[in-house]
Amino acid sequence: MQPENTNLQAPWLDKEAENAETIGGDNASPDFKQVVEEGLQRRDLIKGLFTGAAIAASGAIAAPTAQAAASTGLTFKPIKLSKGNDYIDVPEGYDAGLVIAWGNPVTQNAPEFDPTRQNGVNGSQQFGYNCDMITYHSLPAWNSTNSRRGLLCVNHEYTDPVAMFPSYTTPTKDQVDAELAAHGVSIVEVEEFFGVWQYNANSRFNRRLTGETEMLITGPAAGDELMATSVDRTGTRVRGTLNNCAGGQTPWGTMLTAEENFNQYFGNRATMPTGVNRDNMTRLGTVGGATARRWESFYDRFDQTKEPNEANRFGWIVEIDPYDPNSIPKKRTALGRCKHECATTTIAKNGQVVVYSGDDERFDYLYKFVTAGTFNPDNRAANMDLLDRGVLYVAKFNSDGTGQWLPAVHNQGPLTMANGWRNQADVLIRLRQAGDALGATKMDRPEDVEVNPVTGLVYLACTNNTLRGVGASPGVDAANPRANNRSGHIIEIKESGNDHTRDTFNWGIFMLCGDPDDKAQGTYFAGAPREKVSPIGAPDNVAFDNQGNLWIGTDGMESALGWHDAIYACVTEGPDRGTLLPFMSMPIGAETCGPTFTPDNETFFMAVQHPGEGGTYAQPTSRWPYGSGTIPRPGVVFVKKSWGRGTVGS
Ligand code: FEO
Ligand code: CA
Ligand code: CA
Ligand code: CA
Repeated sequence: MQPENTNLQAPWLDKEAENAETIGGDNASPDFKQVVEEGLQRRDLIKGLFTGAAIAASGAIAAPTAQAAASTGLTFKPIKLSKGNDYIDVPEGYDAGLVIAWGNPVTQNAPEFDPTRQNGVNGSQQFGYNCDMITYHSLPAWNSTNSRRGLLCVNHEYTDPVAMFPSYTTPTKDQVDAELAAHGVSIVEVEEFFGVWQYNANSRFNRRLTGETEMLITGPAAGDELMATSVDRTGTRVRGTLNNCAGGQTPWGTMLTAEENFNQYFGNRATMPTGVNRDNMTRLGTVGGATARRWESFYDRFDQTKEPNEANRFGWIVEIDPYDPNSIPKKRTALGRCKHECATTTIAKNGQVVVYSGDDERFDYLYKFVTAGTFNPDNRAANMDLLDRGVLYVAKFNSDGTGQWLPAVHNQGPLTMANGWRNQADVLIRLRQAGDALGATKMDRPEDVEVNPVTGLVYLACTNNTLRGVGASPGVDAANPRANNRSGHIIEIKESGNDHTRDTFNWGIFMLCGDPDDKAQGTYFAGAPREKVSPIGAPDNVAFDNQGNLWIGTDGMESALGWHDAIYACVTEGPDRGTLLPFMSMPIGAETCGPTFTPDNETFFMAVQHPGEGGTYAQPTSRWPYGSGTIPRPGVVFVKKSWGRGTVGS
């Protein structure tokens, strides 16, 4: 249900600029001020971009935390941001509880966690390390909306061996195997009893997918010469998935998980054959010599000199059907290869499915994929290979608030044989270079993307880019308006005609994150005044509730602003647009990941990633979640209203 005050249109689409004279504050950097002023001037031309209030507007007295306005639809009392607390804080009237943590048994008959007995066999039966994305899939069926029982799909981004193992210098084979097993995905059945979520260790759905699980390569790049290795000359089968960051859930009930910083696992680029493949690996940042992890010491596939194509089989979106424990995951190459942060789906008006994905690197791009076929709500099987055919686009943000989706399609624009592009597989495998050739806009680390379920507007979190405008790096532009962008920003996009299949759009800055009292950096909260917002830095994972409030999780707020990472709820429409309320803070060293709601919005799940980051096994800096005498263990948490019932946030 809509909050009473919500109108259904983003203010920047129909309101004129106001208060332009206070843009950026007195101390805003010249670059920042100029770019934003240009943005506001052009707004007159396109009839409204930002809402009324100015960037870093005026000198309202800072309140310690924002206060919920009764009219926002958000009724919780915001928490105070944390410094030094080694626990999770949630608002009064809410409870948080642990669902599952690193090492807990997942598959039937899995051993209990013993940090002194870590190896590939044990690890591949237990919950992995550094949980990131969460999707909730109702049981009993993909199209049910049960909010009390379902499958949690959780991915495991990376391992931190000095925190995991009692001793770690040069890794042993058991340690490497334990790390491979601690990557990937866990699927566990979960159920709520009287307001408390628990996982069922005996469910037949429970499953571990690791860095060693066999997966299929599908779509245009399957079988290409750059995908073939000595072990798989067909270029269609690959072992495992690595560095899964955010992801998404399809309308047909599968999980999409995005391979992000896969480059770090592949060493010895400097001695691999020169040419197109090596140049592309350089663009993606695989390791020139020995990797820090040294997996190549035990497995040739991580040595690019021995297996120059193995790294081409990573950096994809992987689709997994959690309802079928025997299903084989598929790397969907039609969606391209980069450091995918996420894979967010929406159904366009005509039934085509659109998948948004950011490439999380300084000065890299935002992508979207539009399926050729349409979603069939009556026949699940008919949707299962929708992601193998369609058109992939990369975003260009123009300074006048318009934008284009440029097709990354072979033989279109510069992507021709004459320019060295062999075929569509080549375009997809070398997607970043295709984006370079197309002239896409170099962004400040595109992380998660979400579509507002009420308005259809698309939100992109750009987490930060401290190299913007520094030295020879690209300077500021309209969509990335801050030099040395420590705190990041959020962009709001409206597809032309609110049709997600179109190749043009309009956009505006929704939020320039930071401390609203920091006039030097300058902040902007979609027009909300100081007393309705809070410091926020490094937005990363985002989610929408059913009412169209944007939930924002941070990764790196401590280095940006000194506060622990936190989750916020933000109003996107109506008179309280921009109101930003802290909802949840993390224990020491942890990042917020995977925010997601059950269909009824009465439960909020999130992943606590890398608690105690920077510490070691012998000298942990956090004891979350098990307390005194234990090592920190990444885990999944649920949040509900006390006594278990009621919509989270309102
Ligand atoms: Fe794994 Fe872009 O965060
Ligand atoms: Ca992330
Ligand atoms: Ca998300
Ligand atoms: Ca991040």
